[in-house]
Amino acid sequence: MDFKVADLSLAAFGRREIQLAEHEMPGLMAVRKEYADSQPLAGAKIMGSLHMTIQTAVLIETLVALGAEVRWVSCNIFSTQDHAAAAVVVGPEGTVEDPKGVPVFAWKGETLEEYWWCTEQALVWPGGDGPNMILDDGGDATLLVHKGVEYEKAGAVPGASEGDSEEWQVILELLRRTVGPDKRWTEIASRIKGVTEETTTGVHRLYEMFKAGSLLFPAINVNDSVTKSKFDNKYGCRHSVIDGLNRATDVLIGGKVAVVAGYGDVGKGCADALRGQGARVIVTEIDPICALQAAMDGFQVTTLDDVVGIADIFVTTTGNFDIITADHMSRMKHNAIVSNIGHFDNEIDMAGLAKIPGIVKTEVKPQVHTWAFPDGRQIIVLAEGRLMNLGCATGHPSFVMSNSFTNQVIAQIELFTKTEQYPVGVYVLPKHLDEKVARLHLDALGVKLTKLTKEQAEYIGVDVEGPYKADHYRY
Ligand code: NAI
Repeated sequence: MDFKVADLSLAAFGRREIQLAEHEMPGLMAVRKEYADSQPLAGAKIMGSLHMTIQTAVLIETLVALGAEVRWVSCNIFSTQDHAAAAVVVGPEGTVEDPKGVPVFAWKGETLEEYWWCTEQALVWPGGDGPNMILDDGGDATLLVHKGVEYEKAGAVPGASEGDSEEWQVILELLRRTVGPDKRWTEIASRIKGVTEETTTGVHRLYEMFKAGSLLFPAINVNDSVTKSKFDNKYGCRHSVIDGLNRATDVLIGGKVAVVAGYGDVGKGCADALRGQGARVIVTEIDPICALQAAMDGFQVTTLDDVVGIADIFVTTTGNFDIITADHMSRMKHNAIVSNIGHFDNEIDMAGLAKIPGIVKTEVKPQVHTWAFPDGRQIIVLAEGRLMNLGCATGHPSFVMSNSFTNQVIAQIELFTKTEQYPVGVYVLPKHLDEKVARLHLDALGVKLTKLTKEQAEYIGVDVEGPYKADHYRY
């Protein structure tokens, strides 16, 4: 088996944590049981690009239990938990000397070159017969395949231009090495039946490609299952934003002024958590609806420019770019903590910060850096501007990820087994499956549902067994 992880000897530790996580992931375990005999993913060759954590290990082993062959990478250079990666490679039946699990190419602290090399390894299967499915988070695997096909069609990869980010230059370099007359990427794309996408940012990319007519295969938008975005993005971040801040800095949050940029699902979770710790939370928004929600939830809503000099903690949650600029950072208080929990690192202008004349970067510990300005003030930047809950802590806890990942497994089964029902486009799972995912998590929390009577069901115009809401209902 080919794989590349940090240290295979961490596998036993990883396995113990996977076993604990399985208990907290009732949705995934129920799906394993339900499909044990029918093996709906037999023949599926799934390339996964999603944070290689303990929770993801339970997802991977669920896909395998349903018959899939899998190769995996992380979708962020800092988010891999090395013991999880080792345990997945060794597998429940294997040993360090004789690994029998799943090929993983991921370790904590990859360089950008290594990150994209890993993504390539998981897309290029030995024997050249896979993958036929992608499970993506943020859309990097999907992007690489699409760019490869685009440049193979054009017959050349463009040269680097002035304003290109470092990461884009790395991607172009990889494509220059691999785009050729053998049309490797076109062949890879032709085998892929579809992609299931985990997060807001990746879903955004998919809709853009579909609109532009460049999407090459169908996609299921897992993010917009209610049991994903209204749970993982909100309650998951409510937990892990504090975990990230604590593990990185251990600063007391109570009494501090915290700015949350963006009041979507992630922003709502973060603002709630910071308030729960006793911070005075200020929200910034561009959308009048979300701004009004934040105001009615009791938060001050204003612009970053207004409060940049008084806040102690900054968290960006927008999925947009240039939210905190170098100029903002140069106006912050001494030891202000600057962090991002959105998918990509461009929410904070790290490149601009590095260019400030006389600025000095010092590593406090991995993924925590001070940046000192010539006047003696400094700020603390978490995870180099990448998502701090996965860079500085261990991401969301198992129970909430069980909701997200049960949607992922169901979406993979849908696309793989009913491919002809999904022409190229971007789809969300039907509501009855969303409700099923929620239902699978109720017992573990001791929830007792009220059952509709037949008459009540008729009165509100639904079926006794659901779905209980119209598709336009927003929760
Ligand atoms: P969303 O679309 O619900 O929320 C983003 C909010 O930011 C919107 O309300 C939007 O109006 C606002 N916004 C956009 N530009 C802004 C600006 N210039 N200033 C202030 N506000 C602005 O998206 P969601 O689901 O909350 O996701 C946000 C990001 O977090 C995405 O990149 C997503 O992929 C990522 N994510 C990260 C997770 C993690 O564990 N770190 C988990 C889930 C999502």
